[in-house]
Order: sequence, then structure tokens, then C-alpha cells
Amino acid sequence: MNVLITGATSGIGERLAKQYAEQGQSVIACGRNTHKLSALSEQFSNIETLSFDLTRYDDIPQIDAELDLLVLNAGDCEYIDDALHFDASKFERVIKINLIAIGYALEKWLHRIKPGGRLVLVSSSAGLLPLPRAEAYGASKAALTYLAKTLSIQLKKHDIHVSVVLPGFVDTPLTQKNTFAMPMLISTDEAASQIIKGIEKQKTEISFPSRFIIVMKLLRLLPFSVWQKLATRMT
Ligand SMILES: NC(=O)c1ccc[n+]([C@@H]2O[C@H](COP(=O)([O-])OP(=O)(O)OC[C@H]3O[C@@H](n4cnc5c(N)ncnc54)[C@H](OP(=O)(O)O)[C@@H]3O)[C@@H](O)[C@H]2O)c1
Repeated sequence: MNVLITGATSGIGERLAKQYAEQGQSVIACGRNTHKLSALSEQFSNIETLSFDLTRYDDIPQIDAELDLLVLNAGDCEYIDDALHFDASKFERVIKINLIAIGYALEKWLHRIKPGGRLVLVSSSAGLLPLPRAEAYGASKAALTYLAKTLSIQLKKHDIHVSVVLPGFVDTPLTQKNTFAMPMLISTDEAASQIIKGIEKQKTEISFPSRFIIVMKLLRLLPFSVWQKLATRMT
């Protein structure tokens, strides 16, 4: 199986690339960190690497390989600490890597997915609920989940199956910056295994850990005024 993974130099994407390589799949690992990419290709003869910035459309390479699986996982999180003095450039940075860059990658690579192949977009459970300080990150991920679900309708007739991944908290460099409690934090190993299992089962939504997702989805059922009061207390 030919698998292309973005954000393969760290966290969830790196574990996914290694787990697929350990299974014997041919992996194209993407990222900007050339040291991490070299280490991956030295460790696994079935990993080739591509280094570029996904937010720069012209830098994204065309690929010749036909893909069985395209995993758009690269992303970043920055919080809006002062909503009153809104930081538009921070907002733009987050929306650009988490959403606009997905559009770039889809234009460049979607047509390389074979009929019967799969597209996986790594979104976040943060898009399920309006969370304090997540004006940029949550908005980008809510939009990404919408994009994935609409693509899953549109691409069905082309025999391309789409999955959206909604992780809870996973222990990666992205969350290691957080100073708040992260309930039900899981390892990258666990997250990558859940994603691979979900893809094998052709799940449209791959969300985990299940207890965390149930709580988020129950909170979503609350009237917004009640959630607004609870969330205000979290700030
Ligand atoms: N960790 C969590 O709890 C959690 C929860 C929900 C969703 N997610 C989502 O899971 C995905 C992976 O997150 P992670 O926690 O594994 O984060 P991470 O360890 O910080 O890894 C992020 C990856 O994205 C790549 N990346 C970032 N900006 C890029 C750019 N401009 N161009 C190319 N590559 C770029 C990074 O590569 P380079 O550094 O080499 O550029 C890195 O490989 C993200 O979409 C994140 O939103 C994570």
C-alpha cells in the first residue's frame, strides 16, 4: 500500500508513519524538519521523505506515485489569549496551516488517490464545542470536519472513502505546551493504532478516546446558554 502522511516529523504523524512502515507499507513522510525526515528514512528503507512548507502552495511538490491512502495530518495550535485585542496574524497562521493548506494539498494530490483508496483528514474534538481561547484552532478544526464530511459525500461516486479523525488529548509537542489539565491524555502509539484501526474499518469518523468523545458530544447537547456559562467559568 502507498501511503502519504503530512506532519510525519512529530507526534501523531510520526507514529503513524512508523507504524505503517513497520507493517511493510511504502510511506511518503512529509514535514519541514529535515533532520527528523532523514532519521525516518535512515531507520526505514520503505520510508521516502519530502520536505516543504504546506502553507506555501508553490512549494508543495506534485507526486508521481498513485496513493492508496492520503493522510493530511499536519497542523498547529495557537491560542487567542486576549479576544478583545484580537490577534489577526495569529488567527491567519492557524487557519492557514489547519485549513487553507488542506485545500492546497487536496488540489495537488487528491487526483493521485486510486479508486478504492482513502483520504484521511486529521481534525480535532476541539471542533465539537466552542472552547475558551480556541477561537482560531477550534474554528479551523470545525471547518475541517465539515470539509471532510462534505468530501465524503462528493467523493463516494469516485470510489474514494473519506475519514475524519477527531482525537481528544494526545501527548505530543503540540500539547506539551499546554499549561491546563488535559483529561484522558493518551500516547501517540495509542492514537496511531486507533487511526489505523479506524481506517481499516472504513469508519467515516474516527474519534477517541471514546469516553472523552462521549462527554464532549453530551456537552454539545446542552442549550448553548448553559454551555456558555460553564465555559465562561473555565476562563
Ligand atoms: N496532540 C493532540 O492532542 C491533538 C488533538 C487533536 C487533534 N490534533 C491534530 O493532530 C495533528 C498532529 O498534531 P500533533 O499533536 O502530532 O502535533 P505536532 O507533534 O506538533 O506535529 C505537527 C506536525 O505538523 C507539521 N507541520 C506544522 N506546520 C507545518 C507546515 N507549515 N508545513 C508542513 N508541515 C507542518 C510538523 O512538521 P515540521 O515541524 O517538520 O514542520 C509536525 O510534523 C494536528 O492536525 C493537530 O491539530 C492533535
